[in-house]
Amino acid sequence: MKKKILMVTSEAIPFAKTGGLAEVVSELAIHLSDLGHDVRILMPRYYHIDRSALIKRDEALGIWLKDKEEWTGVYEGVLPNTKVPVYLLDHEFYFGRDGIYGHRPDEGFVDNAARFSLLSRGTFQLCRMLHWIPDVLHCHDWAAAPACYLLKKEEQYKEFSETRSVLTIHNLGYQGIFAMEDSSYVQPETDWLSLSTLEFSGALNFLKAGIMSADRITTVSPTYANEIKTHEQGFGLDGLLNYRHEDLQGILNGIDYSVWTPESDPHIAPHFYSEKNIRNKSNVKKVLQKEMGLPVETKIPLVGIVSRLVEQKGFGALCSPSHGALFSICRDFNVQFVILGSGDKWCEDELRSLSEKLPNLAVHIGYDNRLSHLIEAGSDFFLMPSIYEPCGLNQLYSLSYGTLPIVRNTGGLADTVENYDQETGNGTGFIFNDLYPDVLYNVLKWVVETWEQRKPHINKMRKNGMKKRFTWEKSALEYLEVYE
Ligand code: ADP
Ligand code: GLC
Repeated sequence: MKKKILMVTSEAIPFAKTGGLAEVVSELAIHLSDLGHDVRILMPRYYHIDRSALIKRDEALGIWLKDKEEWTGVYEGVLPNTKVPVYLLDHEFYFGRDGIYGHRPDEGFVDNAARFSLLSRGTFQLCRMLHWIPDVLHCHDWAAAPACYLLKKEEQYKEFSETRSVLTIHNLGYQGIFAMEDSSYVQPETDWLSLSTLEFSGALNFLKAGIMSADRITTVSPTYANEIKTHEQGFGLDGLLNYRHEDLQGILNGIDYSVWTPESDPHIAPHFYSEKNIRNKSNVKKVLQKEMGLPVETKIPLVGIVSRLVEQKGFGALCSPSHGALFSICRDFNVQFVILGSGDKWCEDELRSLSEKLPNLAVHIGYDNRLSHLIEAGSDFFLMPSIYEPCGLNQLYSLSYGTLPIVRNTGGLADTVENYDQETGNGTGFIFNDLYPDVLYNVLKWVVETWEQRKPHINKMRKNGMKKRFTWEKSALEYLEVYE
């Protein structure tokens, strides 16, 4: 039966993106809509979002927040080339500023509890305004998690009695933790029972409230669904996730193979290539080396990284000032590195400083979609030494471009990359377990030796990877089962 599904999120491409979440929300919505469902998206209208393709609705929403009603405008648009409606909450005070979560990636705004409470509370007001009550409220990450809580606590006793909620955890490391006083933004009047749902370790915790309240919980890979139930990866919420284990499952993300393909990616034109004819890949490599100021030399293996520069992604072991492995790797091996990213200041500074010392390391600090495509296509290897990785999209892009992922054995990386077998040449990449600088050093040694001594194996793995398909068609069907 055709379902009405509302995705509530803080990010969705092409409107706002800081990471994989934005891509996943829009792709999932599109594919569910292709299957005939009425899927819509709700998110904030951040200041940077261009309004020219959006229509402002005549009515405004009255959203109670703490002790007053916030009049909030609603812009309406669609995901490009689709009929998927997107509603964007417009509030000058809360969203009329630069930044999604903060002015810098490593600093949150002090009023984020209020900003994202507005999103969750606005969810129900929007549906009332549209006279459209969803069957499924699908909330993504901490920023939308309070909507699951509000449904359970209040709204299911009103128009939303038939609505069920799904919470997708894209990253347990971000929980939306605030001072307990801020709970009145989520719910103006709270009793002790409500407070016990909203509170964790003496603080207001948006994600915990969502985990307690959602009818079903998903995360973005099967391995991560198991990992978050352990003390090591549970970020304090493992007990609760174990308690809810029957309602928790992992569904792997897909990628859009019409965008992330070497056969027609405009960012690598005119050097398109495919699994059957891969010769042009080395021309893309030359373009990348030239643009990044590296010696243009196709014989030297080139390792790419595109990432948020945060602890989660393994930058401590890779480049922390006291003991990172990157310096010795670049000094000792005949290898080149290209790194694109932004994030923690210490990491940006350290990478800049290393690139000044090392002629084979090129670093671009910033966010650059075009360059990310060029790196995926032009590199020979793609490094993701993540401490944990709920799913990860970059290794999936890498496989599509015949770029061999070098990944830690965790989360979605473990579910999507097959380790190289030196005997047979089977596999799609290189996998390692422990994250220590000497381990990274040895993995890169293994990679460079394989490149120098076993080219047929490299070529075989490239082809293996390029044949893999992690499609949204498949994942969307799994989400539908959850909705059922
Ligand atoms: P996460 O969501 O944890 O950051 P993912 O691998 O799921 O990790 O998704 C990251 C997404 O963000 C990818 O699409 C990646 O290409 C993109 N990305 C990350 N940093 C940058 C950057 N500096 N410039 C361009 N794209 C980036
Ligand atoms: C998160 C995770 C990443 C995942 C993405 C999309 O940001 O860190 O692993 O791919 O969400 O689900």
